[in-house]
Amino acid sequence: MRNLVPSWIRVPIVFFIIFGAVEFFIDSGDKPAFVEYPVVMLFLLLVLLILIAIEAIVGALENVMLHKLDEEAKARFLAEKESSVKFTWLKETYNKLLGQKPIEEEGEIILDHNYDGIKELDNDLPPWWLYGFYISIVFAAVYLLRYHVFNGPSQIDELETELVEARTAIEAYKKTAKGLVDVNTVTQLTEAADLSAGKKTFETNCVACHMADGGGGIGPNLTDKHWILGGDIKSIFKTVSEGGRSGKGMIAWKTQLKPLEIAQVASYVLTFQGTTPANPKDPEGDLMVDDSSETTSDESIEETAIETVVDSTQVTLAN
Ligand code: HEC
Repeated sequence: MRNLVPSWIRVPIVFFIIFGAVEFFIDSGDKPAFVEYPVVMLFLLLVLLILIAIEAIVGALENVMLHKLDEEAKARFLAEKESSVKFTWLKETYNKLLGQKPIEEEGEIILDHNYDGIKELDNDLPPWWLYGFYISIVFAAVYLLRYHVFNGPSQIDELETELVEARTAIEAYKKTAKGLVDVNTVTQLTEAADLSAGKKTFETNCVACHMADGGGGIGPNLTDKHWILGGDIKSIFKTVSEGGRSGKGMIAWKTQLKPLEIAQVASYVLTFQGTTPANPKDPEGDLMVDDSSETTSDESIEETAIETVVDSTQVTLAN
């Protein structure tokens, strides 16, 4: 086994087997173990040093042994070693690709001029270079036809297709990842699961000031159509996440609630609309007219007028 594979291959192979085993057995999340735990790096370095040291010692022993052998045994040992070294095909292919004449045959290709003692050899082009050149000619022809004769997609076209694909992928991802909502993308959630989650959040965090039925206390009444800070889902999301006007008592909940929880509780708040709480607090803020409802009848206009008067009195009182 030892003589089958030369040491410059043996060391990396053994090292990578150990490396692989370390990565396999140490659970380090999505980072490689040697990044996550620097001590692993130290260990691997030590392994590498020991492997190299073993090779050096074995090589030295072989040398010492060789000196002790008589001529015949030495020759036999070397021949055995030579014959067992594989990878000669690698060397042969390499030489073939260079296409050089061996030094002994250079006499055949020497040109008969001589510049101050500098002579020139008429070597063939190295095959690796020549075939590379042929391949590039074929490539150029194909490229020319595809992109300049048959007008294949340009780089700009390709970029645009990729951008469109990426955008659809992002949209698709956002649909499955509700937790990614922010004030710009939030929509009113209507699923029962979301609303009951919102109710739970509301009951834990908000009832102290808004009452369980949204009638209001320290905080304003959430059941009426009057809103200090806006009554659409985006505004409510913003109020809950960023807080109310400073000094009023409504804190920014974004440090305690996740975006999804804020979206759920905001949607739950909207379900109070039109309900009648036990102890409703007087309306505060501006009347928000839902675009979809018809408010053209005289009655509702009158109501609006009265409510506006109430509002302004409240503002005067507050000040
Ligand atoms: C410490 C008392 C308190 C708590 C707890 C509280 N709020 Fe408020 N909330 C207020 C006050 C006070 C205001 C009025 C803010 C202002 O005038 O700027 C308000 C305003 C609001 C508004 C805007 C109402 C409007 O008319 O524009 C919403 C929506 C709201 N709160 C929802 C919530 C939700 C949801 C929670 C629970 C996560 C919550 N609040 C917890 C006191 C509180």
